[in-house]
Amino acid sequence: MVNPTEFIDEAVESITEQIGDDNAIIALSGGVDSSVAATLAYRAVGDQLTPVYVDTGLMRKGETDQIRETFSFMESLEIVDARERFLEALAGVTDPEEKRKVIGEQFIREFEREAKETDAKQLVQGTIYPDRIESEGNIKSHHNVGGLPDVVDFEGIVEPVRDLYKDEVREVARELELEEIISERMPFPGPGLAVRIIGEVTPEKVEVARESCHVVEEELEEYEPWQAFAAVIGKATGVKGDNRVHGWVVAVRSVESRDGMTARAQEIDWQTLQRIQSRITGENENVARVVYDVTHKPPATIEYE
Ligand code: XMP
Repeated sequence: MVNPTEFIDEAVESITEQIGDDNAIIALSGGVDSSVAATLAYRAVGDQLTPVYVDTGLMRKGETDQIRETFSFMESLEIVDARERFLEALAGVTDPEEKRKVIGEQFIREFEREAKETDAKQLVQGTIYPDRIESEGNIKSHHNVGGLPDVVDFEGIVEPVRDLYKDEVREVARELELEEIISERMPFPGPGLAVRIIGEVTPEKVEVARESCHVVEEELEEYEPWQAFAAVIGKATGVKGDNRVHGWVVAVRSVESRDGMTARAQEIDWQTLQRIQSRITGENENVARVVYDVTHKPPATIEYE
């Protein structure tokens, strides 16, 4: 485990040196990794850094407002409303890897525009150690690793947390006095709710996934999961009122893990599961069924796509 105070001092010093007089840019997702990387870089070079938050429309409930508030100390923060462009790009796309690709490409377009506008020469990234391992092993295409530097002509890439595990990044976040909502935040995948939706991403499925994820996060907080969320996995028959309906099936997933590379499904008590089921089916009229995923990683992955 790194010593957070020493780590911060050394990181700020090294970022200052790497960026020099250039302008820099970082994609701020609100996750702990990019938040720590952005805060370190902002400490180092202030408004020479433009943190860009792209609202893809695939974010968690209330996330964009939260970001605006938490990072209000960064005067150069840019919030890009790209919700419609992402939904349009994703229309008709059903293959999981294709979905990731479309999201990655759209993200690059949004980011590239900002990078050009700010004349950024340096790219700061919140890549952590497990991201690099998974990406090198080609387990799946992480949209926040690689890609960007080929498209935008950056002179340098700054990755202040590249050698840290997630729990170490959290230590650093606490030391930086980032709010608990950031330092203790569950990992959230770059492609957002799109990997919690099987098949095509539609506005209706996104809303069901977003509201269901919110319920699961609230209800399972006391279990202190590594990640707990809900996914829209298909359709099935149910009965609502006096009618048979063909509604969404929502899967609830809650896992323990150290670094996301392996994970164990958590044992959740029946009352809690029933409360989740009742809230999700009650609050979303188009949900017919809620199931609990008991699969560890491996053989399953944590996310659904
Ligand atoms: P899987 O689903 O592969 O996920 O078991 C392992 C961990 O990585 C997160 N994840 C992602 N994070 N970009 C990210 O930044 C992505 O494309 C991505 N896909 C999965 C996932 O939430 C879990 O913590």
